[in-house]
Amino acid sequence: MSNVLFIHGYPQEGSFWNGQLEALRAHHKVLAPDLRGAGADRRPLPEAMTMEAYAADLKQLLDDAGIQRAVLCGLSMGGYIALAFVEHWPHRLSGLVLCHTKADADDAAMKKARELSARQVLAEGTRPIADSLLPKLMPEPTRAERPRLVKSMHDMMLRQDPHAVAAAARGMALRPDRTALLPRIAVPTLLIAGDEDPIVPLATMRSMHAAIPGSRIEVMKGIGHLGNQEAPDLFNQKLAEFLEQVENRHA
Ligand code: MLT
Repeated sequence: MSNVLFIHGYPQEGSFWNGQLEALRAHHKVLAPDLRGAGADRRPLPEAMTMEAYAADLKQLLDDAGIQRAVLCGLSMGGYIALAFVEHWPHRLSGLVLCHTKADADDAAMKKARELSARQVLAEGTRPIADSLLPKLMPEPTRAERPRLVKSMHDMMLRQDPHAVAAAARGMALRPDRTALLPRIAVPTLLIAGDEDPIVPLATMRSMHAAIPGSRIEVMKGIGHLGNQEAPDLFNQKLAEFLEQVENRHA
């Protein structure tokens, strides 16, 4: 049995991982919290929620649950947070799963766009962000063929608290480049990429894979930015195989 801590992306909530909790909970202790301000979480929020601050909340959660080591599984912003966690508390990890994410910082144009998004969500609510992100999350055929999935992702983004979304956008803009951390990752690591992800190109994930010693990469074909939603059975299977590998290493 592994402890698995799932970290959702932006602008999402813990229920994003329900399909993984269901598939894995018979064999593993699984946690998928709402990050600060997301979903039902109502903790106070700073103007910018840094990746380190989210990671510190998660470290507290592990402490409170009496969990010494966990496999961290983060998607996109969740991966940025996982890398911040690795930097500060590497001894609390037994494995790492990085999904549709990257280690580098935002460039100047992206930082500017984040600030505009933060101001827009505070002024107009979450709809413009939900509407503009949706087409980037899943490729066109998936959006055409799976209206229920599309609606559930859109609804999830719409129901987030604008203050939390703005704080997350500003926090992402502040994140440092963590590529130098990658060669120092000393736990089993799985990377999950989509070959049709416009937010994190496959080449970016391949170079992270090359930089993390002994890591594995799973490239999901025809998949965009949300592997766990778009192809849950394959995603869960790859995750379960990886968790088995982590356990064997510690047996
Ligand atoms: C996410 O899915 O968490 C975001 O797209 C990440 C980002 O905007 O960099």
